[in-house]
Amino acid sequence: MEIAEIAPCLTEDLGVLEHFMPSSSVDGSHAARHARQEAGESTYLIPWLDGRPVGHAEVRWTGCAAPEVRAVHPGCPEINGLLVWPERLRSRGVGSALVRAAEELARARGVGVMGLGVDGGNPRAAALYARLGYRPTVAYVDRWAYVDQAGVRQEQADACTFLVKELSGVQDT
Ligand SMILES: CC(C)(COP(=O)(O)OP(=O)(O)OC[C@H]1O[C@@H](n2cnc3c(N)ncnc32)[C@H](O)[C@@H]1OP(=O)(O)O)[C@@H](O)C(=O)NCCC(=O)NCCS
Repeated sequence: MEIAEIAPCLTEDLGVLEHFMPSSSVDGSHAARHARQEAGESTYLIPWLDGRPVGHAEVRWTGCAAPEVRAVHPGCPEINGLLVWPERLRSRGVGSALVRAAEELARARGVGVMGLGVDGGNPRAAALYARLGYRPTVAYVDRWAYVDQAGVRQEQADACTFLVKELSGVQDT
């Protein structure tokens, strides 16, 4: 398969992202992620194949929102909202490439650590992260919201584990 080209989301990408991958949560909408990128809080990475977006990952430089995680890992950025879409494009290395691209961004900023959260019911993603060098550290509750088909905001709380990787090639300051 052709390697996906990974680039930060541009304002003009928002329409095509919504067309191919409609937003499914409030904080995780393409517009919300792009707004955080514009505010300098994150980098919203999009992989592209043959001119269409095939997933996303938001590198949150402000770290994980959960207080349990922030207490243990102050200053640790988080890869949030990792997705490869459509499903037929999974297991071809796009997810790994997104994680590596996030790590490269951190290295370029002199940040020597990267974290991400995984839901207890997602063993395949957990196995992928273990292969990429991430180690479990903190159990926490991921709180998020979506708007259902009736237009009502629904709150979710998922039991998750935060995983951390020390990045090579970054000098201690
Ligand atoms: C988790 C997710 C992002 C991983 O993305 P992906 O593109 O499938 O990941 P990769 O292809 O890099 O690696 C996954 C698998 O492909 C294999 N693989 C990696 N590169 C490969 C390649 N070039 N050729 C064939 N297989 C490859 C890996 O060994 C791994 O094996 P597995 O199927 O046993 O897990 C994707 O499955 C997804 O979007 N899942 C739904 C959302 C989700 O769970 N997000 C994570 C929240 S924590």
